[in-house]
Amino acid sequence: MLILWSYLFLFAFGYNSPVPSLAQPTTTITTGSPFTFPAARSTVLPDPSTYFSSNLLSSPLPTNTFFQNFVLNNGSQPEYIHPYLIQSSFSSLSVSYPFIFSNSSFASQIFSPDFTISGLNNPNPNQTHVISSFDDLSVTLDLKPSLRFFLVRGSPYITCQVLQSLKLSISTNHKVVNFVPNSSKARFKISLDNGQTWILYASSPITLSHDVSKIVSKEFSGVIRLAVLPNSNSKYESVLNKFSTRYPVSGRAVFSKPSSVEYKWEKKGSGDFLMLANPLHIRLLDVDDDSDIKVLDDFKYNSIDGELVGVVGDSWVLKTDLVPITWHSIKGVKQESYPEIIKALMQDVKELNSSNISTTSSYFFGKLVARGARLALIAEEIGYLDVMPKIKTFLKGTIEPWLNGTFDGNAFLYDKSWRGLITRAGSNDTTGDFGFGIYNDHHFHIGYYLYGIAVLAKIDPDWGRKYRPQAYSLMLDFMTLDRSPNLKYTRLRNFDSWKLHSWAAGLTEFENGRNQESTSEAVNAYYSAALIGLAYGDKRLVTLATLLTTVEIHAAQTWWHVKEDSKLYGTDFTRENRVVGILWANKRDSILWFAPADQREFRLGIQLLPITPIAEVLFSDVEYVKQLVDWTLPSLKRKGVGEGWKGFVYALEGIYENNIALKKIRKLTGHDDGNSLSNMLWWIFSRG
Ligand SMILES: *[C@@H]1O[C@H](CO)[C@@H](O)[C@H](O)[C@H]1NC(C)=O
Ligand SMILES: *[C@@H]1O[C@H](CO)[C@@H](O)[C@H](O)[C@H]1NC(C)=O
Ligand SMILES: *[C@@H]1O[C@H](CO)[C@@H](O)[C@H](O)[C@H]1NC(C)=O
Ligand SMILES: *[C@@H]1O[C@H](CO)[C@@H](O)[C@H](O)[C@H]1NC(C)=O
Ligand SMILES: *[C@@H]1O[C@H](CO)[C@@H](O)[C@H](O)[C@H]1NC(C)=O
Ligand SMILES: *[C@@H]1O[C@H](CO)[C@@H](O)[C@H](O)[C@H]1NC(C)=O
Ligand SMILES: *[C@@H]1O[C@H](CO)[C@@H](O)[C@H](O)[C@H]1NC(C)=O
Repeated sequence: MLILWSYLFLFAFGYNSPVPSLAQPTTTITTGSPFTFPAARSTVLPDPSTYFSSNLLSSPLPTNTFFQNFVLNNGSQPEYIHPYLIQSSFSSLSVSYPFIFSNSSFASQIFSPDFTISGLNNPNPNQTHVISSFDDLSVTLDLKPSLRFFLVRGSPYITCQVLQSLKLSISTNHKVVNFVPNSSKARFKISLDNGQTWILYASSPITLSHDVSKIVSKEFSGVIRLAVLPNSNSKYESVLNKFSTRYPVSGRAVFSKPSSVEYKWEKKGSGDFLMLANPLHIRLLDVDDDSDIKVLDDFKYNSIDGELVGVVGDSWVLKTDLVPITWHSIKGVKQESYPEIIKALMQDVKELNSSNISTTSSYFFGKLVARGARLALIAEEIGYLDVMPKIKTFLKGTIEPWLNGTFDGNAFLYDKSWRGLITRAGSNDTTGDFGFGIYNDHHFHIGYYLYGIAVLAKIDPDWGRKYRPQAYSLMLDFMTLDRSPNLKYTRLRNFDSWKLHSWAAGLTEFENGRNQESTSEAVNAYYSAALIGLAYGDKRLVTLATLLTTVEIHAAQTWWHVKEDSKLYGTDFTRENRVVGILWANKRDSILWFAPADQREFRLGIQLLPITPIAEVLFSDVEYVKQLVDWTLPSLKRKGVGEGWKGFVYALEGIYENNIALKKIRKLTGHDDGNSLSNMLWWIFSRG
């Protein structure tokens, strides 16, 4: 089916590759690359066998996923599986419909176990849970031997299968104030003293008794579902009753068309199928007449991600227009600016020297590679080719040692336990290379190398051909789409197919789940992968990477970019913040990992860098850009603000005040390590 798919695409899309095709039909991203980086011996990676069932251990495992906390340390930090926070601690599972706290500095959801489900009088209370399967939209968590939870993202019901007859304990941290079974004892309406009312559904009659904090059952086997009534409106109850008999056991995102993602669920039971959609789903959901999808506009759950809306339908198609992936500026550079850009280029290129780079950090080194590659594309765009040989030498001198393992300071290595790349500096130090060794930030770092490789392969196809296996091995670390036990890398390491953006956090337990700070570096990763596809004439890669670039941009604009009139977050948060700092599964921070909230230029900069043609698309909403810059400018009055960070503010200002920004840019005395005067001038003179 996957092979068919790529053929389909070849015919559907007449993409004109700008260079002679380097595609080798035997090594597509379907099969993976035959090249493997040298084996790693990590002293810091956790052991996946603690929580993943043994049959899963022979396949690549996810390292930035929505249930990551469940497989780290004692597995007991909650995860947000919309609309509930779920915590599994030893032999019980707790569910919370969270309260959203928000003030001007952050917004977060408070975990408070509304119900905790376990076997009654469990003789083995300290046994840990087991992840028996997982997919893009679901995880199955077993409390052995009897309880299996199908945790499917966006299900308004928590679904538990009692595999063998068992007495259940369902306790609450609150008080049960009302408990009403229906006459056939398959549905129970339970009110708590925190104001919540929940409904418990059973697949067959069940005998339940309760005291003030605990409900216990007689022997039962079958399926139990729990759902909160988010609202006292009686309509909610009838909707939940109506769809309670059809339950999902797993869910998958299917990337089979160039401009859409399809959600498919494996279901059991009977009747129509109800799930909840987040605001970006609602925007992209294809609800045309023949789609059999019904949006229940008045059936909504609260969420830190915005209201979740009921959708009835067997499968969903999320459709989007694709963003342009171009090497050069989208609208072209003003001709009269060429002399000024050339002057800057000559100076920037003169200073390129691959043998005097002092950093060995995979992140900072990658930024320097991509900075050099920008100079080549700028020179190409304005037709000043004199500098190309020097840039080519720089790119070879910086990239090759990482690809061929001859760089003294660091190296990419292959970790067999989770199946992915780590760096030597990260292999014995969880903070080395910003945690790259525990799968933090992979798309950010690798994105920069891919950018350099794509450009070098474009201007030197022979070089590209020679290093293709290494290039693909790097790219596949976070771009592998297929799933097969034989593959070297996990499926889409950073990309979250339900939130439609990436996570950076890797294998660290966090009370608020995964997080991502820089959306622009995430966009850069997929954009750079698309450029690799263009350079190598790999249409399937171009398609996938273009789609991921597109939706990552949608997600950044939806959840990170906070417009003045946005209703998504609390009013205090919205008033004080034009952009989110760190976005967590369960929290919105105004601080950064490296700066406090009031130093706003950092927040703007980290959501813009690196400046490439795709930045224009990410910041296409000019009204928002102006709000963001106006909000940031007062921060530049502080003493000691870095020239590089000022540059990013001026770059955005240049979108609507081109001349004013140009004057400021000309006065800058320095640039971010991944940026250059050439690049700033190219940007300002290509705003159309
Ligand atoms: C799990 O670990 C956390 C700290 O990492 C600790 O606070 C918690 O008490 C532990 N839970 C159990 C059940 O031991
Ligand atoms: C927001 O709330 C947190 C937690 O109560 C508090 O520590 C912080 O100071 C508050 N921020 C502001 C700006 O009030
Ligand atoms: C379970 O673990 C707790 C704390 O770790 C310990 O106190 C208790 O004795 C253990 N129970 C059993 C049955 O092993
Ligand atoms: C009780 O609730 C269950 C589950 O919703 C339903 O199947 C059953 O018909 C209800 N019984 C009565 C008598 O309404
Ligand atoms: C590296 O060398 C170039 C010229 O070869 C020079 O202009 C530049 O300042 C040097 N950089 C460092 C960090 O030494
Ligand atoms: C690795 O890259 C370096 C730097 O470009 C080069 O000097 C060396 O010859 C390469 N080694 C191999 C084995 O390709
Ligand atoms: C990691 O190993 C290197 C040598 O390979 C050593 O220099 C460094 O101190 C080690 N770091 C840690 C945190 O153990």
